[in-house]
Amino acid sequence: MTVKEQIEALRQEIEQHNYYYYVLSQPIISDYEYDMKMKQLQELEEKYPEYFDPLSPTQRVGSDITTSFEQAYHTYPMLSLGNTYTEGEVKDFYERVRKALNEPFELVCELKYDGVSISITYEHGEIQRAVTRGDGEKGDVVTANIKTIRSIPLRLKGDYPDKFEIRGEVLMPWAVFEALNKEREEQEEPLFANPRNAAAGTIKLQNSAIVASRKLDAYFYYVLGEQLPFDTHFENLQAARGWGFKISENIKLCRTLDEVWDFIHFWDKERKNLPVPIDGIVLKVNSLEQQRKLGTTAKSPRWAIAYKYQAEKALTKLLSVTFQVGRTGAVTPVANLEPVQLSGTTVKRASLHNADIIESLDLHIGDMVYVEKGGEIIPKITGVEKSARPQNGEKVVFIKNCPECNAPLIRYPGEAAHYCPNENGCPPQIKGKIEHFVSRKAMNIEGLGEETINLLYENGLLHNVADIYDLKISDLVSLERLGLKSASNLISSIEKSKEVPFERVLFALGIRFVGETVAKKLAYAFKSIEALQQADYEDLIQVEEIGDKIAQSVRQYFSDPKNLEIINRLKAAGVQLSLNDDKSKRKGNELEGKSIVISGTFKYHSREEYKDLIEAHGGKNVGSVSSKTSFILAGENMGPEKLKKAQNLGIELIDENKFLSMINEEIPSSATE
Ligand code: IVH
Repeated sequence: MTVKEQIEALRQEIEQHNYYYYVLSQPIISDYEYDMKMKQLQELEEKYPEYFDPLSPTQRVGSDITTSFEQAYHTYPMLSLGNTYTEGEVKDFYERVRKALNEPFELVCELKYDGVSISITYEHGEIQRAVTRGDGEKGDVVTANIKTIRSIPLRLKGDYPDKFEIRGEVLMPWAVFEALNKEREEQEEPLFANPRNAAAGTIKLQNSAIVASRKLDAYFYYVLGEQLPFDTHFENLQAARGWGFKISENIKLCRTLDEVWDFIHFWDKERKNLPVPIDGIVLKVNSLEQQRKLGTTAKSPRWAIAYKYQAEKALTKLLSVTFQVGRTGAVTPVANLEPVQLSGTTVKRASLHNADIIESLDLHIGDMVYVEKGGEIIPKITGVEKSARPQNGEKVVFIKNCPECNAPLIRYPGEAAHYCPNENGCPPQIKGKIEHFVSRKAMNIEGLGEETINLLYENGLLHNVADIYDLKISDLVSLERLGLKSASNLISSIEKSKEVPFERVLFALGIRFVGETVAKKLAYAFKSIEALQQADYEDLIQVEEIGDKIAQSVRQYFSDPKNLEIINRLKAAGVQLSLNDDKSKRKGNELEGKSIVISGTFKYHSREEYKDLIEAHGGKNVGSVSSKTSFILAGENMGPEKLKKAQNLGIELIDENKFLSMINEEIPSSATE
């Protein structure tokens, strides 16, 4: 077997396993065996870049290149569905169809998946383009992100039409959603309200490597094209299953309204056992000929309708409201309720979000309140049964002072939340900052959990993150509950954290709005804490993805002398406060001070390689075209929006050949012109 054949065989084999695992949910090899095959393929592809294939399974890991989305028109407009909430309206729909057709017809009952709709074009059995719904006429081209979803086939099997479009729903499974929010909670990042928002947010991320890590799934429910194999919707869907798409098994062909009711009632009960969120069912006339006869209105087809399930509600008593202070000082009001059953779990607490929501509900202690889950992990109060209001229930008002340290709370303009500003004196903020600092994704200091932090705080050994590096074994062993073994483990873990790279240290500092990704961007742009400290607002917003809010927060952090003292102490302790710049990577200074946008596709190097080359020659790769852009490294098929913007701003386009000669790099010999 030649190397090329070996690579091809591995690609096919891995895609087949993707199909077993992600589409059929029936893996036939272990994760380990799968990983080994993937590793082998990656190594071969790295060694033989001439066999690069954008549809290789290795490309599903996404890329760190940030792209802004181009827009594209849909070949067929993406209509929405008429929504109904009552059985009466379903019956009306059925009657309308019966009268208009005046002949026997079948209805296909499907689940209504609750995610983001996507339309994908396939040509010659290969994925071409994936576009979001947008305004129905045109949407964002999100192909790179969609390709990371492993249940979506990149190449098709069987007897597929040469050209067609398929529509479906990109979803975040419940388990993934819960894990993601748990992680965000630990990092005190804002939670996603429900899996649909999480899926929508993910698919619009500019970094496909993060998309890949979010483990999205996709179900397909609509095939469009000029050469479809069958003239019924149901059969076309079954055929699409054969081409490799994930088509739900929970589809039913119905001839009577009674059969439709059975389907609706069955899934109303069963939906909570599905791994993915659904919010209703969809009814579609099966025959494509009859669909054409019925036609569409401006907004939606007359041959289909959605029946939406009611969110489950429960009525219970509001016992009290407590206010919790988080690491960032944000104060969250929580309603304590008389326990009540809701969608299979007992609810005792509900989120009240902020002062405005409390005010608009006009809450009083003792009120009977409606709680709903509606896809959200933490149930929320959606209404008050005013008729059941007790005589002397006290009105709930948002507190004015911090419940932990009594500092007067503040509310930033334009924000809904109240904050305790006493960052360095409010116990939950102090302890929360330390917990964040030592967490796995930050300094990864093991053995310093919530309880130990509490213990050290109570004993006056820990007031801020710099104190961690002053801890001694003798301090620790004198405390009850901490043995010599765990004390010395902790000290060595603290020691090891001095090797944690700058970008993670920056994240660990817990500057407001500086999450993992932002910390990376700032670290790479400024390279040291001193440079970051000296950066003014203008310098900060020059960095890709750094906007007004983050820039102000960074400035504020460095304007506090207490923070500067902590940084100095961390520096003295040997914590990494600058990038460990690998000087050997640096090849020249030709691009010093230049901001370069990469756009289009290239012959000689991948975009990733060009990014490295720009950096190796002292330049900076930025994502979007602005007046600050020095030039555009332009390949084939540059996005029309970027092109227009570049022309308007008079920014020069430089092609591959010219770029390589600018930086004195040779044109690779394996490249064919
Ligand atoms: S069919 C012209 N089938 O619901 C008909 N849509 O409000 C096109 N959806 O935008 C849609 N599950 O995002 C169809 N089984 C299903 C669906 C479904 C979820 C979504 C889709 C659409 C919205 C309609």
